[in-house]
Amino acid sequence: MSKQMSHLDNIPSTPGKFKMEKSPFVHNRLRWHSSLAKLAFWSFIFLALILIFFFRYPSSNPLPQDPSRRSLRTYNWGGPAWEKRVRSSARARSRNGISVLVTGAAGFVGTHVSAALKRRGDGVLGLDSFNDYYDPSLKRARQALLERSGVFIVEGDINDSALLKKLFEVVAFTHVMHLAAQAGVRYAMENPSSYVHSNIAGLVSLLEVCKSANPQPAIVWASSSSVYGLNTKVPFSEKDRTDQPASLYAATKKAGEEIAHTYNHIYGLSLTGLRFFTVYGPWGRPDMAYFFFTRDILKGKSIPIFEAANHGTVARDFTYIDDIVKGCLAALDTAEKSTGSGGKKKGPAQLRVYNLGNTSPVPVSDLVSILERLLKVNAKRKIMKLPRNGDVQFTHANISLAQRELGYKPSTDLQTGLKKFVRWYLSYYSGGEKAAS
Ligand SMILES: NC(=O)c1ccc[n+]([C@@H]2O[C@H](COP(=O)([O-])OP(=O)(O)OC[C@H]3O[C@@H](n4cnc5c(N)ncnc54)[C@H](O)[C@@H]3O)[C@@H](O)[C@H]2O)c1
Repeated sequence: MSKQMSHLDNIPSTPGKFKMEKSPFVHNRLRWHSSLAKLAFWSFIFLALILIFFFRYPSSNPLPQDPSRRSLRTYNWGGPAWEKRVRSSARARSRNGISVLVTGAAGFVGTHVSAALKRRGDGVLGLDSFNDYYDPSLKRARQALLERSGVFIVEGDINDSALLKKLFEVVAFTHVMHLAAQAGVRYAMENPSSYVHSNIAGLVSLLEVCKSANPQPAIVWASSSSVYGLNTKVPFSEKDRTDQPASLYAATKKAGEEIAHTYNHIYGLSLTGLRFFTVYGPWGRPDMAYFFFTRDILKGKSIPIFEAANHGTVARDFTYIDDIVKGCLAALDTAEKSTGSGGKKKGPAQLRVYNLGNTSPVPVSDLVSILERLLKVNAKRKIMKLPRNGDVQFTHANISLAQRELGYKPSTDLQTGLKKFVRWYLSYYSGGEKAAS
């Protein structure tokens, strides 16, 4: 035993210096009882050194060197049948139809926008990672809905440049509606890197492929009202300051607006950012208050109602999904073509930012009262201090720019919109098989 230990001590510790032929053990070979034992011993040492090498120098492995790919899940894509589906889904059916790549198509807004585009005869191809930020079965149900209307959703990550390039090789998209993102303000404290991954790295990866595409598409993408952050001037106008984000989510959306400026400036990409204000409606997001309030009121659980300092009211400019969809389609329809080609700018290109809100903020306690009436259940309200985890006290959109330039005119009030949401919620979660978790 002690002999073996001393042998081990003599073995060079640096793998690079390890040379079997020059080992002192070669000269002592007669002391071994059998050549089999020798083979086993050396195999063990060799294996151990390989393991030490890989654990100590992981970056020497050529595979995970691209940091964007390291965090990507593997998805199956490609092949003639897949390309055929991609082409068919993206083909416009109407004479002047556009061909749109919708990222985040299995998401709340993405599903509604994709369905609306398809309905009017445009070609639509979806792209979504189906991540599990919230119940992926809801995303699958939206996917099934879209499939029925002829929209194929490719499963993949916007950070996968090879996939994006392939999609642009197969289809000459005229437009990209970019809605894929890590949403939600509070989750940013739990998983900050997911925001950097999707909202910053993912946006750059997408714009890189768009700038090199020939022709370059026009891009409309979702920013957020959260960029107004701690701004106190109401209603929020596009000219107001957006340099005081209150959450990492807001900061990544603000970064997105700056990144959009850069790609417009250098490569001539036509870019329109839409600052959505608290979107709600059927097929909505389970992490949003109106959604989980509904669930918790029905379960008899207490619901937190936040209050700002000095009993200040917390209010949101709730915007119904159909109004947002109209705004998105109007932004696509008024988007000018990108001016670059082959990655080179040929002239100035359009760069726009619009608020898409409802211009009528409603206190969260009123939202709860409407839900109580619609659900015919009294809520167990728990008044709590607004925590400093990203939420702002109120949002209120000035939409005159979108009104003037996009013809945007929201027409659904909260009472009407919530009625439609509750009807959907009750029918979707009825029967217990899809119990909201
Ligand atoms: N819903 C709102 O109130 C609201 C408000 C302001 C801004 N927005 C923005 O609007 C857009 C749509 O929001 P939503 O409410 O539909 O959210 P959502 O979470 O329902 O949809 C986003 C979709 O993007 C997908 N996704 C995320 N990261 C991805 C990646 N790296 N690659 C591919 N797919 C990815 C998700 O799987 C999801 O299906 C987002 O950009 C969001 O930040 C939404």
